[in-house]
Amino acid sequence: MTQKEIVIFSPGLDAAHISRLGERHVVHDFSDSESPFDDADFNAALANAHGLIGVRQRWDAERLALAPKLEAVSSISVGVDNYDVDTMQARGITLCHSPDVLTETTADTAFALILATARRVVELANRVRDGQWHQPIGPAEFGVDVHHKRLGIVGMGRIGAAIARRAHFGFAMPVAYHNRSRAPELEAELDADYLDFDALLATSDFIVSTVPLSPATENLFDDHAFAQMKPGAIFINIARGAVVDETALVAALDRGHLRAAGLDVFRGEPISADNPLAGRDDIVALPHIGSATVETRAAMADLAVDNLLAALAGETPPAVFKP
Ligand code: DGY
Repeated sequence: MTQKEIVIFSPGLDAAHISRLGERHVVHDFSDSESPFDDADFNAALANAHGLIGVRQRWDAERLALAPKLEAVSSISVGVDNYDVDTMQARGITLCHSPDVLTETTADTAFALILATARRVVELANRVRDGQWHQPIGPAEFGVDVHHKRLGIVGMGRIGAAIARRAHFGFAMPVAYHNRSRAPELEAELDADYLDFDALLATSDFIVSTVPLSPATENLFDDHAFAQMKPGAIFINIARGAVVDETALVAALDRGHLRAAGLDVFRGEPISADNPLAGRDDIVALPHIGSATVETRAAMADLAVDNLLAALAGETPPAVFKP
């Protein structure tokens, strides 16, 4: 088989993954480079690259043009909002991603945020850590229940369904969802209600966003959406930061309309301590840990390597992204 040139453009693969790629192809490893596009060697490697593998770098048309021989890109992520899918399609470049293997782990992250926001876990644990637990907590510190509350999921894909199962079977929560298409089998399995967007916002105690980022979903959660939510609702976002108008979210919390927010994703990541979303007791902010467990990140990297090797061999990769 012809040896091809592969560029690793971010961390995410371990030595075993890299040697699997290296057994068949020539590998240029820039996983330690903090800003690879500023590196002349990286740009030289791109000029001959047939395959790219990595995560969390933006690949727009201009950057893709640096790799004129490109055949396949393997993203170590389920989300593909960093890739100019239209350009890739026009150029016949295969885009692979890593769905399924992260579904349950990412659903766990959503549930961690649901529980942490409702029960004020981080705020109250910090009091203990800071030596501020002097007397039994009183009503001012009470949280709210999760069990039996109504969960509204926006974006009922694989991860949304895994969250809904946890809610229904584990916490006796009635589930509603909004999605581009209906999922009758899930409605039957979980007794879930399909609602239009505004009705879901107006009737849910917890609103969880798992919707992919696209031009249609950018700023989906804006002033209007937050105003539709029930007073005291809790908003959770594990999708992408740009589906939220972050200024509108802060305003809804400031005026006491929302009780809390749990955020794993932000418009510009990483955020600093002076970001308005950081340092608030009513926001649990995580550093994009959705799929970040030892087991799941290893499975995602395995799948990404399988994808790239198959694509470069002219075979059908296990997980091609289909727009
Ligand atoms: C994903 O897999 O899309 C995660 O959010 C990592 O970017």
